[in-house]
Amino acid sequence: MKARQIKPGIYWVGAVDWDRRLFDALIPLPDGTSYNSYLIRGSEKTALIETVNPPMQETLFDSLKQLGINKLDYIIANHAEQDHSGTLPMIMEAFPDATLVTNARCNGMLRDLLILPEGRFQVVNDKDILSLGDKNLEFAFTPWVHWPETMCTYLKEDKILFSCDFFGSHLASTDLYVINKERVEEAAKRYYAEIMMPYRTTIEKDLHRIEEFKIDMIAPSHGPIHDKPELILKAYHTWVFDEPKNAAVLPFTSMHDSTRRMVEYLVAALAERGVAVQQFDLAVTDIGKLAIALVEAATIVIGTPTVLAGPHPNVVNATFLTDALRPKLRFASIIGSYGWGGRTVEQLTALIPNLKVELLEPVLSKGAPKEADFKALDKLAETIVEKHKALNLK
Ligand code: FEO
Repeated sequence: MKARQIKPGIYWVGAVDWDRRLFDALIPLPDGTSYNSYLIRGSEKTALIETVNPPMQETLFDSLKQLGINKLDYIIANHAEQDHSGTLPMIMEAFPDATLVTNARCNGMLRDLLILPEGRFQVVNDKDILSLGDKNLEFAFTPWVHWPETMCTYLKEDKILFSCDFFGSHLASTDLYVINKERVEEAAKRYYAEIMMPYRTTIEKDLHRIEEFKIDMIAPSHGPIHDKPELILKAYHTWVFDEPKNAAVLPFTSMHDSTRRMVEYLVAALAERGVAVQQFDLAVTDIGKLAIALVEAATIVIGTPTVLAGPHPNVVNATFLTDALRPKLRFASIIGSYGWGGRTVEQLTALIPNLKVELLEPVLSKGAPKEADFKALDKLAETIVEKHKALNLK
């Protein structure tokens, strides 16, 4: 994709990665992604904000060439992760007059991660202003969106917030701006769930920090630009600040259908009682879908057979991930079947130290579930409903 003008003197010079299907060797990318760089031409100085993932560096160089850029004064790094910083060494070599502008922590991390030329750094503090002449950039420290060093850059005259990962979405698209709101909101929610949710309590402060600005546009470094920022700001407020919903998630694995029958019974029992439920067969599910469901769920019920004296490895993986994502769950339980024994409940509960949940009585069936097991599942459904009602969850 070629460079695209956002406003006079401000250009998107990123790269769209249609084919990438996995990030960090962990996160599924069903819709690809983009690495958004931005070029700002002031009356006196020119700045580039972020670079692109190194395999796509040629696209960035082509865009700069297309715009006739033969001198860069500043390269601003809001975040040290290599999908944005990885092309810095090549850009700094190609533009020898450019100074790399970032905060002290990011400076240190960039030096750890990349081989960069010495003596070409400018360290900035929160609220510092960098003048490009008729355009001025203010830096806003917003730690933990996604790493501890992350910051945003605000272009005061045009009221654009360059937010890097914050408010981003893994979405390859020819849309420079948000056109398909539902599609972008779903992708942004997935992104929030996988990248931001673990740091939710810090992000509360980050949201307050950036709300000090009058923002006409949010330009993240993944996915379309938010030219109507109310949509994404409102969504983040809901995800970060609101109470969980009257909703439950049931990730499970089943080997011989006993656990599956229990999961399906409980899903129906909860649905009959007015709880919104999503079940995920971990043998086939996109783990990102589970992460999305965790953003607003109040209860998780983990379904597993007992295998090798403990929970199924698929379930261990999903439970560990759920704990790492730190969703705002309030309740948890475990259901499933076993053949002759094991330590399934003990091992699974040891995997969720970060979840501030009340553990509800597990239901484990010896072999195929029988009448007493289904009655216990009814009781578990009743308990979940009562707990949600007590918190007045909607
Ligand atoms: Fe898109 Fe945390 O990098």
